[in-house]
Amino acid sequence: MGSLTFHGHSCFELAGNGSHLIIDPFLTGNPLADIGPDDVSSLDAVLLTHGHADHLGDGIDIAKANSATVVAPFELAQFCETKGCSVHAMHIGGAHQFPFGHVKMVVAFHGGGVAGDESGQYTTFPCGYVVTLDSTRVYHAGDTALTLEMQLLEGLVDVMLVPIGDNFTMGVEDAARAVDFVKPNVAIPMHWDTFDVIAANPVEFADAVGATAEVITLKPGQRYEF
Ligand code: NI
Ligand code: MN
Repeated sequence: MGSLTFHGHSCFELAGNGSHLIIDPFLTGNPLADIGPDDVSSLDAVLLTHGHADHLGDGIDIAKANSATVVAPFELAQFCETKGCSVHAMHIGGAHQFPFGHVKMVVAFHGGGVAGDESGQYTTFPCGYVVTLDSTRVYHAGDTALTLEMQLLEGLVDVMLVPIGDNFTMGVEDAARAVDFVKPNVAIPMHWDTFDVIAANPVEFADAVGATAEVITLKPGQRYEF
């Protein structure tokens, strides 16, 4: 048994098989977060999709407080290392078997700036992740446009975490097309309503997805078990 707990925006905690990860821990300053950075404990890893403040978030502090490994695209990992984190750098298309699970880094089309990097030297490609825990394959799409690359994941994903908030990422219609590309069993919306500019209706998303996948909308603090 494993579980996926939503903490608002794009932050999810994943637990299973004795492993405990967090993805994109934007908690401080997140008006929808149900926990703060001090409420997370016993983490093995912090996975970061990109360096924007609403994803990097509290990642550096949480990783250090938990002696957890930061997993991130190479340049972002380097940045976190300069801040005192232990890191495991990866890049798009690469996979690695960690003690806590299997992680594959996949394409996301988005901006690559790193919050707090005044030199600009750590700007890099953002990513998504396919994390396999307890034989369940969870795809966190990160911040991304709809892209044909998602078709490469068809049949390889059980649970898809998909941004629906528009403006910075896919909106509802494109997110539903992304679900059609990937064909997961379950799709969970993220990256909506945190700020006015990304207001969206998950019911419209579920209607657009139709029978392609089961849409499960989590409120911050709610958990999906697999
Ligand atoms: Ni972003
Ligand atoms: Mn974002």
